[in-house]
Amino acid sequence: MDDGEIKVGLADGVPEEDFISLYKEAGWWSPEYDADTSFIEAVVAGSAAFAAAFSADGRMVGMGRAVSDGCSDAYIQDVVVARDFRGKGIGRRIERLLVESLLERGIDWIGLIAEPGSAEFHSKLGFAAMEGHAPMKLDLDAFRRQGGDPL
Ligand SMILES: CC(C)(COP(=O)(O)OP(=O)(O)OC[C@H]1O[C@@H](n2cnc3c(N)ncnc32)[C@H](O)[C@@H]1OP(=O)(O)O)[C@@H](O)C(=O)NCCC(=O)NCCS
Repeated sequence: MDDGEIKVGLADGVPEEDFISLYKEAGWWSPEYDADTSFIEAVVAGSAAFAAAFSADGRMVGMGRAVSDGCSDAYIQDVVVARDFRGKGIGRRIERLLVESLLERGIDWIGLIAEPGSAEFHSKLGFAAMEGHAPMKLDLDAFRRQGGDPL
C-alpha cells in the first residue's frame, strides 16, 4: 500500500510534542508525566534502537523502540502509528527496521508483549506467541507486601 512520502529511519532524538501525542493516542501517557517530560530524551537515548517515521512536513507520525543488552537479547516496545497514518505499512516498516537493526548486531532473541488487538500485526512480521509463557509486570504494591523496598 502507498504510504506517501513517509521516511522511516533510526533516530537519536525526536520532537517531544509528537512523541507525547503518539503516546497519548496509544493510551500510554499518564497525567503525572506532564510535570517532567525530560524522560523522553532519556527514553530515546537509552534505547538500543529507536525508529521514527516522518511525514513530508516533518511531523513524526510513528515510532518504535528496542531495549537490549546489546549483544544477545532484545525486546521491542512502544510501536505506534498516528491514527490518521495507520493502514499504510508504516508500522511494518518501523518494526522491520528495528528487527533488522538488532539482527545486524547479532541480537537474535527478540521478544515483545503485544498490546490487545495487535498480535496479528506482529505475527505478520514473523513473531509468534510463546506457548505456555505469560507476560508479567511488577506490581509495586505486591512487591512491597513481599518485603521489597521500591525506594
Ligand atoms: C499496531 C499499529 C502500530 C499498526 O500500524 P500500521 O501502520 O497501521 O500497520 P501496517 O499498515 O504497517 O500493517 C501491516 C500489516 O498488519 C496488519 N495490521 C495492522 N494493524 C493490525 C491490527 N490491529 N490487527 C490485525 N492486523 C493488523 C495490516 O492489515 C497489514 O497487513 P497486510 O500486510 O496483510 O496488508 C497501529 O495500529 C497502532 O499504532 N496501534 C496502537 C498502538 C499499539 O497497539 N501498538 C502495538 C504495540 S505492542
